[in-house]
Amino acid sequence: MYTLDDLLNALWSDYAAMTPQAARIHNLMSSRGERIVNDHIAMRTYGDSRLGLDVLAASFERHGYVARDNYEFTAKKLRARHFEHPDPSRPKVFISELKLEEFSDGLQSIVAGLLEQIGPDIAAHPDLPVAGRLWAPVRYDVYETLLAESEYAGWVAAHGLRANHFTVSLNALTGFTTLAELNVFLTENGFRLNAAAGEIKGTPDQFLEQSSTLADIVTVDFADGPREIPGCYCEFAKRYVLPDGTLFQGFVAKSADRIFESTDRN
Ligand code: NI
Repeated sequence: MYTLDDLLNALWSDYAAMTPQAARIHNLMSSRGERIVNDHIAMRTYGDSRLGLDVLAASFERHGYVARDNYEFTAKKLRARHFEHPDPSRPKVFISELKLEEFSDGLQSIVAGLLEQIGPDIAAHPDLPVAGRLWAPVRYDVYETLLAESEYAGWVAAHGLRANHFTVSLNALTGFTTLAELNVFLTENGFRLNAAAGEIKGTPDQFLEQSSTLADIVTVDFADGPREIPGCYCEFAKRYVLPDGTLFQGFVAKSADRIFESTDRN
């Protein structure tokens, strides 16, 4: 029996193995007496019936996760949905998918070539969210062709299905009150932050502020040899109390847009 703990542990192990900064940040926090609470796990995929948002969602829904809000990222050509578990100690899950139909014929045909390599019963695999790349490696120039239109398209081609980031809940930290303080601490400890449109995305008015590191650089095997490219990153979220007294649990597409740039080449 593959449990939710199995799935979440597999996602973390895979992510931590390719994101050394994640363990370094967690260790740094632990050494200050902090206990890390994970706000959400984010995943990326292609909008396709074989492994799109709905297919990935099913892997979480069978463990009790429930779909909440939908989001549109117009400029990045993404749609997304977030999921919550009845047990509030479980992380939220944020799944986005690339709206392939809005891209060039060239990009669509490259991605179609990847998708047609996927086996027929893939949706039934309990560990689909951590399956990695379900296709043979592309050539590096093909990856770059994808990047030219969509950094996201290139990321999924290279890395496949896995957690794109885990998110430290600032609300659960005792030694930091604001993201700005946390960002200073991270910078002083040598971490590079995503500064696209400012280090902090979102405002208290939107009930959610987030910041993130730049992705760790990882070695990926392409069809024509290994190359170093951006992998996964760490995110930090501060949530605010809504007028009804509950903590906001959603996401804000308008302000989260630039967070996706944490995996851009810098
Ligand atoms: Ni996120």
